[in-house]
Amino acid sequence: MIERRDSAPPPIGRVVATEQKPATPHQFHFWTAKETSIGIGAIVTVEEDTGGGSDEQGLGRVVYGVVTDGFAYSDLVTPLHDVVGAEGDPARAAESPTARQEIRLWTAAVLRQRPEEPLQPVPLGRVHVATDADVAQALRMDAYLGGAEPRGIPVGLYTSGGLEAPVYLDADFLLGPEAAHLNISGVSGLATKTSAVEFLLASVFEHFPSHKGRIAAVCFNVKGPDLCFLDQAGTLDEQDLRRYDRLGVEPKAFERVRYYAPFKSDGVNLNTLRTHPDLVRAVEPLVWGLREVLDYAEVLLNRDDIDAKADAFIDFLSDRVVGREFDDGFGGTHRVVTFADLERLFRAIFDGLEGGGGRSDTWRTHHIATIRKVRNRLSNISTRAKGLVTDDGPSSDLPWGGFEDRAVYVVDVANVDPLGQDLVFARVVSKLREYLERRDLGVDAVVVFVDELNKYAPADGPDTYVKKMLLDISERGRYLGLVLFGAEQFRSQMHRRVVGNAGTIVFGRMDSDELATPGYQVLSPATKIKLATLPIGELMVRHPHFTQPIFVRFPRPAVLRGRDGVDRFPPAADLPFEDAVVRQLVKLDVRVRPNLVKDLIADRREEDVRRALALTRQARPHDAFAHFKKLLGARVSAAPMPVRESVPPLNPISDEPY
Ligand SMILES: Nc1ncnc2c1ncn2[C@@H]1O[C@H](COP(=O)(O)OP(=O)(O)OP(=O)(O)O)[C@@H](O)[C@H]1O
Ligand SMILES: [Mg+2]
Repeated sequence: MIERRDSAPPPIGRVVATEQKPATPHQFHFWTAKETSIGIGAIVTVEEDTGGGSDEQGLGRVVYGVVTDGFAYSDLVTPLHDVVGAEGDPARAAESPTARQEIRLWTAAVLRQRPEEPLQPVPLGRVHVATDADVAQALRMDAYLGGAEPRGIPVGLYTSGGLEAPVYLDADFLLGPEAAHLNISGVSGLATKTSAVEFLLASVFEHFPSHKGRIAAVCFNVKGPDLCFLDQAGTLDEQDLRRYDRLGVEPKAFERVRYYAPFKSDGVNLNTLRTHPDLVRAVEPLVWGLREVLDYAEVLLNRDDIDAKADAFIDFLSDRVVGREFDDGFGGTHRVVTFADLERLFRAIFDGLEGGGGRSDTWRTHHIATIRKVRNRLSNISTRAKGLVTDDGPSSDLPWGGFEDRAVYVVDVANVDPLGQDLVFARVVSKLREYLERRDLGVDAVVVFVDELNKYAPADGPDTYVKKMLLDISERGRYLGLVLFGAEQFRSQMHRRVVGNAGTIVFGRMDSDELATPGYQVLSPATKIKLATLPIGELMVRHPHFTQPIFVRFPRPAVLRGRDGVDRFPPAADLPFEDAVVRQLVKLDVRVRPNLVKDLIADRREEDVRRALALTRQARPHDAFAHFKKLLGARVSAAPMPVRESVPPLNPISDEPY
């Protein structure tokens, strides 16, 4: 992977140490000619002048460093001498018969010393520009690039003075178990955060070491069409292709991508920008019922609600009520499957309590106020996230247990209400965790990419369930193979422990105000300036093996950009109910004849149609139309329940407003 230096090129500089600016084990200074190819971020090597000595005497030391600052000087002691010399006229200063001596002095931070022990100040040696092999040594990449089981994941090209060297991350430190997670920050539009993660995912898929097993990614699309076209090829220029080649990554779109999007509130049109007829096939509806919501009901309670009583009541509902026969204590028996059934139970409870002359305000040890609160929260989610939370049929979810190797699962929540987003996020990540713990997800590791992570784990604000969950992944995910790739504009506004646990930290172009915050004190002023003016496509990377941050360049992702995607594949307009139903049935079975469907559903209740459609989708029958027709059944649909009913009807489909 690494090209070796055949013959040593001439040195470009020499280490200097003075009493004021001595060389230390961690920093040194060197001078170069005025014209030099190096600059801030360049990697250099220092070779000690051995004078014929040998290694045993501590001679022959090689030091690798990265340039962190630069100075230019002349022999003038004070600016006054120059002013006087030119008689106060700047135009005449250039005419002076003798050009002043000018030097370039650089400061470099030590990346590595060979031998590592004893650790000594940097010797006064010759300075060379690093080669590929030197870069590998300097960044300690030799430890994971060679051997029987190499673990390098290309992240970009280190570029300086005409030299380009691939930089690799260690899979054990990017994807666990030694360390894990990646966080990228930088200003909007210029930092290329989303693009960098797209490229890195492609690189991870191609270079994930085979001994580590299978890997998949779950990406949350939180902004417009950003991640909606990961399976479509984008345009790359010559430079990009060359970089792909140099990094050993194939410039191609992701081959296996599944999209999941909830419905809009009509329950039949998908709530995503990927609805172009040519692409919509890869989009599965994301629909959850009462059971799925109740399992993560804590998400719906905000901090003010942190209330053991509400928690206890929710547990009671999910353990004792949902999905089983339940006696309400007022003479009614319920079988709660949907939100509507639950609402009926709530009504029965309130009526029962009021009917008792208002003497009691508790039911089964739960206070009426707690019951009301939980009811409000649950009805709130079913209204606010209507297309996600359904009352009309079975849920449709990610393929838990059947995740495929090198597949990307995009969950599109860009147009979902924030409360719904939290719910999706909490449930998907908790499920991933649960399956990975049991080792039956279908893959051994999952990268979860959360763009705009600051929305979910801000530094301040309440300790929400989602925030706690993110903390949990960042602290424990690496043992499970659950890896978080997060992106946000301002790292300083993020929860400290969430970003602090990221083993690999990447910066794109940064805002200068952000750089002035305390988190960046370790960077030299010159490095900060470089970060504030970083060109598009360049990143600064911190990784556990690199003692100093390193600048790299990465190629454009090989996938279609979101906004180009919506130009090339304009989203289909929302269809009227009947047409949307037809479209979904045709998606299941191309032989379905639209007119027959329309005739069949002409005067049916929408809930019944949605339910039959959802069940057909779930069954994936050979003949979708016949199945759908059978499910829709007679005009008045009634699923008989073998239960004594006190509050009719106990049919999962309700007439009553919720
Ligand atoms: N390696 C690259 N080289 C050159 N241009 C690039 C590269 N990667 C991305 N770009 C371009 O930079 C622009 C911004 O990229 P991107 O959308 O990834 O930024 P972002 O940091 O995620 O922005 P936002 O904060 O708005 O989400 C895109 O138009 C993209 O085409
Ligand atoms: Mg982005």
